[in-house]
Amino acid sequence: MSPIGKPIVDARGINKSFNTAHVLKNVDLKVNAGEVVCIVGPSGSGKSTFLRLINGLEDIDGGQIEVGETTLPGAPKELLSVRRNVGMVFQNFNLFPHLTVLENLTLSPRRTGRMNRSGAENKARELLKRVGISEQSSKYPSQLSGGQQQRVAIARALAMEPQILLFDEPTSALDPENVNEVLNVMKELASSGITMIVVTHEMGFAREVADRIVFMADGQLLVDASPSQFFEHVEDERLRSFLSKIL
Ligand SMILES: Nc1ncnc2c1ncn2[C@@H]1O[C@H](COP(=O)(O)OP(=O)(O)OP(=O)(O)O)[C@@H](O)[C@H]1O
Ligand SMILES: [Mg+2]
Repeated sequence: MSPIGKPIVDARGINKSFNTAHVLKNVDLKVNAGEVVCIVGPSGSGKSTFLRLINGLEDIDGGQIEVGETTLPGAPKELLSVRRNVGMVFQNFNLFPHLTVLENLTLSPRRTGRMNRSGAENKARELLKRVGISEQSSKYPSQLSGGQQQRVAIARALAMEPQILLFDEPTSALDPENVNEVLNVMKELASSGITMIVVTHEMGFAREVADRIVFMADGQLLVDASPSQFFEHVEDERLRSFLSKIL
């Protein structure tokens, strides 16, 4: 892992269009190793697209993103290296329904040759314990609550030992009573020093856990501030209007 203070994600002048829709407009964002950055903003502002570019899941039209030692856009080899370095947690968990919890966690480490079976299983059990669901390892995803499924998804992302974790609205699909158990796992991860970029509407979480909060609207990154500045000294009219709707 890079030392704290060195940018581990450095996006410069990022542009992205889908057909005629210009969905990211000259977006710049630096994230230092160990930082937690929350991204907030209205629907359609480009938050998910930006995460997908960082992870190499979409092509960049203009600009560059340095992710660890790798620069995107890049050759397939670079994309592979970025995807191995970056874990992603989605709103809808995206677990493999036909695999048990344990198998969901061991699949990628084994397929990529990173670990053998017993190594991958040991690591998986350790991670399931960390997210508080060690007793569920032989169940299938459909036998778990949403909060438990999301904790499995987080453990699965960690199984590849990523340097960076990206979260795209990880609690938006959960019943209210399951939100905190997922946020608590994320808080523990944040304090462990892993770099996290979190798209969320959970303003309490952002205020408490983020080192910086970033506001996106209409494809632009309009505000990048510490939590206290973000909530208390808001000069941007669109941010004020956004906050007045969700707080
Ligand atoms: N694969 C795609 N093809 C065409 N348009 C897309 C595609 N993905 C996203 N878009 C468009 O890009 C814009 C930004 O979408 P994006 O999903 O990044 O927004 P978002 O900020 O994550 O919104 P939400 O809060 O609703 O998740 C939207 O107008 C969306 O319709
Ligand atoms: Mg989105």
